[in-house]
Amino acid sequence: MSTKNSTYILAIESSCDDTSVSVLHNDKVLSNVVANQEIHSQYGGVVPELASRAHQQNIVPVVHQALLKANIDKKELHAIAFTIGPGLLGSLLVGTSFAKSMALALDIPLISVNHMQAHILAHFIDTDTEKPPFPFLCLTISGGHTQIVKVTDYFSMKIIGETLDDAVGEAFDKSAKILGLSYPGGPLIDKHAQLGNPKAYAFTHPKTKNKLDFSFSGLKTGILRFIQKNVKENPTFIKENLNDICASIQYTIVAILMNKLKEASKQTGIQHIAIAGGVSANSGIRNALTNAEKQYNWKTYIPEFEYTTDNAAMIGIVGYYKYLDKQFDAISVTASARMKF
Ligand code: KG4
Ligand code: ZN
Repeated sequence: MSTKNSTYILAIESSCDDTSVSVLHNDKVLSNVVANQEIHSQYGGVVPELASRAHQQNIVPVVHQALLKANIDKKELHAIAFTIGPGLLGSLLVGTSFAKSMALALDIPLISVNHMQAHILAHFIDTDTEKPPFPFLCLTISGGHTQIVKVTDYFSMKIIGETLDDAVGEAFDKSAKILGLSYPGGPLIDKHAQLGNPKAYAFTHPKTKNKLDFSFSGLKTGILRFIQKNVKENPTFIKENLNDICASIQYTIVAILMNKLKEASKQTGIQHIAIAGGVSANSGIRNALTNAEKQYNWKTYIPEFEYTTDNAAMIGIVGYYKYLDKQFDAISVTASARMKF
């Protein structure tokens, strides 16, 4: 019998291009195995059909490895948690089907987890970093999403601002593509940005009707035009100025994100600010948030690097809280590509 003090959960994340499996003991991560899919880099983006095939190949060895690393037997598990959405449907189906079969075979509860909620609750994994108190604002920035979420409890979250077109990760990746950098380009822009002058070039900030919403497609077009114009005049423009271009793009994106956060903090009166999602690995946003502690008297929360990009540990922590709350799913539950909280 499990008690509140001893719950083992196996979690599966397969919403995009990483197959990840984690085992948690309560809110502590025992293992968090991530199999990256290299195949997509040659296509400049994730190819959904290839992603689901790779998940299919990875899932058994990754589950095996996660159990091995955690040093527990599958019979000791109390529940199976899995990502139900949002994400690529074919990819989600691999994790969903595997989770269902495993829960059925072991006769233990099945727990579905919203991927975006998981990015936010990753802050509650037992680590050395401080956990945000409720209520807090969370800027969730990934390759698929850009949201400002007001979090009042583990399961009480409200999106108060979101992107109307591209996600911020896409803005990074598409800009990188324009510059001829490989996919995913976000980390590469970040790397070059750290060596360049952020004020070398100025890009226009997009305007949105709702002050808390985002729009990045105009910025992408602006960058494309700027590059095309300069390359026409000087074919080696990108090569000669790569660091400055990257620094300027990153500076603009970070300024957009920070302005929205400032507005959200003003509107809600909340000064506890967290970030989540793959783009929170970005050095520019991390520095800007740290500076904001002094500048605006905020308390900011930045998750450990391992739990920012897609990983199953974040699915496991939601699974743990749902387990305590007895929020279980029927075996007939189905994955969903688009879903809100
Ligand atoms: O959360 P995530 O791993 O997957 C999604 O759910 O989308 O986020 C991936 C995104 C990609 O767009 C990637 O380029 C971006 O996060 N990313 C970064 C950095 N590290 C990852 N963007 C900017 N700077 C980084 N250091
Ligand atoms: Zn994600």
